[in-house]
Amino acid sequence: MGATSMPEALDLGPALRIVEEMSPITDSVIIPLLQRLQDEYGHVPPDVVLAVCRRTGLPASRVYGVATFYEQFHLQPRGKHLVRCCRGTACHVRGAPRVIDAVRSSLNIEDGGTTEDGLFSLETVACLGACALAPVVVIDGQYQGQVTPRKMESALRRIVKEES
Ligand code: FES
Repeated sequence: MGATSMPEALDLGPALRIVEEMSPITDSVIIPLLQRLQDEYGHVPPDVVLAVCRRTGLPASRVYGVATFYEQFHLQPRGKHLVRCCRGTACHVRGAPRVIDAVRSSLNIEDGGTTEDGLFSLETVACLGACALAPVVVIDGQYQGQVTPRKMESALRRIVKEES
C-alpha cells in the first residue's frame, strides 16, 4: 500500500447535465451543486469544477473555497473503506496519537490520504461524539471504542484478508 494513484480520464457529461438541470447557477446553489457532483462522481474532481465554472461563469476560486471549507466535500477519490480516527482531547489523553500512528504506518498513508490500491482512506476528526469510549475509531461507519494500536492493526489486516 502506498501513495494515491493517478486519476482516470473523466466523463464531463454528467456534470454538464447537472448544471443544465440546476440552472440558473448562482452563488446560492454552490453547495447543492457540489453535493450533486459528489453524488455523481464519488468525490468532487478538480477537472469537473473547472468545466462547471467555464460553463456557468462561476469563479473557480469561489467554488474551490466552498469545496475546501466544508468537510463533507472531497476533492480526491476516497478508498472503499473509510477509517476515521479521533484526535480530540478525550481520545488524545487516552492514546489516540499512538493509534493514529499505527493506522498511518499500517496503511502507509497520511491523514486525508488513500492507499494506492484504493482500499482505504484515512481521516482524522476533531471529535467523533463518543468521548466516553475514547480512544475512538470509526471504520465504515462502525464505532470502535477503547482501541489500541494492536486492535487497529488486526482490524485493518482482517479487512485486507476479506478483500483478497
Ligand atoms: S474526543 Fe474522541 S470521540 Fe470525542
